[in-house]
Amino acid sequence: MFQSIVDEVQRSSHGQHYTSVPNIMKTIEPLFLDELREEFDKYYDNTQRLERLWNRISKIKIFDPACGSGNFLIIAYKELRKIEHAIIERLYGDEHKRQQLAGKLESRIKLDNFYGIEIDDFPHEIAILSLYLAKHQMNIDFEKQFGREIKLIPLKDNANIIHGDSTILDWKDVCPNLPHKSGVKTGPEQGALIDFDDEPLELELEQESWDEIYLIGNPPYLGSSLQDQTQKAGMARVFKNFGNYKNLDFIAAWLKLGADYIKGTNAKLAFVSTKSICQGEQVELIWPYLLHDTEIGFVHKPFRWTNNAVGAAAVVCIILSLRSPNSKRAAYIYDQNIRQEVQNISPYLIESKNVIVKSRRTQISGLSAMVYGNKPVDGGHLFLTLDEKNFLTDTFPETVPYIKK
Ligand SMILES: C[S@@+](CC[C@H](N)C(=O)[O-])C[C@H]1O[C@@H](n2cnc3c(N)ncnc32)[C@H](O)[C@@H]1O
Repeated sequence: MFQSIVDEVQRSSHGQHYTSVPNIMKTIEPLFLDELREEFDKYYDNTQRLERLWNRISKIKIFDPACGSGNFLIIAYKELRKIEHAIIERLYGDEHKRQQLAGKLESRIKLDNFYGIEIDDFPHEIAILSLYLAKHQMNIDFEKQFGREIKLIPLKDNANIIHGDSTILDWKDVCPNLPHKSGVKTGPEQGALIDFDDEPLELELEQESWDEIYLIGNPPYLGSSLQDQTQKAGMARVFKNFGNYKNLDFIAAWLKLGADYIKGTNAKLAFVSTKSICQGEQVELIWPYLLHDTEIGFVHKPFRWTNNAVGAAAVVCIILSLRSPNSKRAAYIYDQNIRQEVQNISPYLIESKNVIVKSRRTQISGLSAMVYGNKPVDGGHLFLTLDEKNFLTDTFPETVPYIKK
């Protein structure tokens, strides 16, 4: 058992993720990394703003409500540390400035700000261990770059990885999402290292501010006919006030709970998903609810999701991001790595208003009612092989019009 844990942790921590790194980056870059990197570039010469960016990064919370062995959390942690190291390099890259800190230089990004839920115990344990290992690796990079050792042990901060069922737990108990009191002073935190700027500190009076929280991951997707009794019970719990939900994919539970979590706050999500949630009858079942309090921030159109697990088949996925509505912010459609800026993304993943096609049995053009769609329910007796078809049409040519390809 111990050896398998070590093997698994090492696989995770050496980049051979079951969930491949480029796919995780596709999820987290448009969600928050791109913006943080742009801020870094913009304020490259402004020490006060860089301090503030560092402060901001140290408060960001990352939450994966189906975290498995924690690959999304690990990559997010490492990427935030890389930006932090770039900021420190800019502020304290000079040996002389570092000396003035008298040993106070260290990472402000805490594992405490990383949250997860996982139903299976083993991957949940792996996620906790892997995050310690990720921290250790980044501490080694830190030491190489800044000549200052950050000790991992004794463990001072812990990721909040909960072993449980996301359809039962209250996500806000796992990762609190509460407003802060108004009247917040911004600028370097008390005890922040050194302010090299002459600019006076700004005072900002905010009425209500919310934590910056990003929900990420690839929650399970499973069509309605494939859900087991536990999963069906989970769906019934999550959608208890919905009239019609039984044809929804299992991942709809994460989208609904995610939208509930985001509602009226600063949190955003980006989940890898099956594209079926944006096609056919599922759009009508889930999207009016989702769009009531959220909007699509970005989407990656269907692409083949490959991973490094031996023998794993590539599946076709989308990446879907939800946020509180804000017409001032651009929305982005990614298609084969081409990014298009648009005003609004409809649930069918195109630039359009949120028009949703609803199913109906009566004709708008006065034709007879549609009783059932086109589906062969003949138990296979009306299917013909090529030989059978040839025999039939050769022997009885009058059958030709009745045989369809
Ligand atoms: C596609 S995997 C995600 C893998 C993960 N991103 C990783 O890095 O390992 C989906 C995960 O959701 C978990 N899961 C399934 N049902 C769940 C539930 N009801 N509550 C919490 N986790 C669940 C599965 O055990 C699985 O680990």
